[in-house]
Amino acid sequence: MLKTDRVSKEFRGRRGTPPVLAVRDASIAAEPGRFVAIVGESGSGKSTLARILLDLIPASGGSVTIDGQDLARMGRGDRMRFRRTVQAVLQDPAGSLNPRKRVEQAIGEVVRLHGIAKGRSAVHAAVVEALSLVGMDPPERYLDRFPHELSGGQRQRVLIARAIVLRPRIIVADEAVSALDASVKAGVLRVMADLKERLDVGYVFITHDLPVVRKVADYVYVMKSGEIVEEGETDEVFAAPSHPYTRTLLAAALEPV
Ligand SMILES: Nc1ncnc2c1ncn2[C@@H]1O[C@H](COP(=O)(O)OP(=O)(O)OP(=O)(O)O)[C@@H](O)[C@H]1O
Ligand SMILES: [Mg+2]
Repeated sequence: MLKTDRVSKEFRGRRGTPPVLAVRDASIAAEPGRFVAIVGESGSGKSTLARILLDLIPASGGSVTIDGQDLARMGRGDRMRFRRTVQAVLQDPAGSLNPRKRVEQAIGEVVRLHGIAKGRSAVHAAVVEALSLVGMDPPERYLDRFPHELSGGQRQRVLIARAIVLRPRIIVADEAVSALDASVKAGVLRVMADLKERLDVGYVFITHDLPVVRKVADYVYVMKSGEIVEEGETDEVFAAPSHPYTRTLLAAALEPV
């Protein structure tokens, strides 16, 4: 349902440097209820592709479609609906949460913006429900907290709550758990897997973390220098990688540091 068809992104070079072709001819597909991962070394174009999927930057070539409808040709209303349907959960240190906003305000304002609920008590109820869906129990305990009064794992859960309160069909998660330590990471991943089952949300999950991909992803795309060099069901790619680059990535991931 959410697809890119041979999408490219060229960034203009600064001060006479040549342009960077950050993404070239990348075709991927995501759908509700499916956990799709994108892996690849630093600089391979993963975040650029994510930003194109999220309608944060335009593609230089190719198309992004949802249920066959081309993002580039959408009018205002459809575009707003697209942005609600495809939500982002980014890495916390990137400053995704405003330090001066309490949890209830941070989630409540997107509820109002997208017209999900109207009136104080309906908005409040939507916020409470979203917090409990991400396992923040009891939700009331967290409503008045500022981001700095939460742990890293709790902040990631708030970001997920802020996304799912809009009932997206796809969540694009760029390094969403990479900064968390192992047990916290496992908890957040459980929440994501649980939401896949309960709300039928689908993921485009971008990470360096191959063991995580192996555990949670249904399907995986491997990116190198802006291109998708391999794709397939996760089990198959891990069992029998066909591209030499995938083999190198897998071997590196198994090496002790
Ligand atoms: N706004 C920009 N202007 C110019 N070049 C950019 C811009 N954004 C990204 N790039 C370049 O595009 C390439 C891909 O970057 P991108 O951030 O998509 O990689 P990535 O796979 O997400 O890497 P990482 O794993 O380190 O997050 C890099 O060479 C990067 O320097
Ligand atoms: Mg990135």
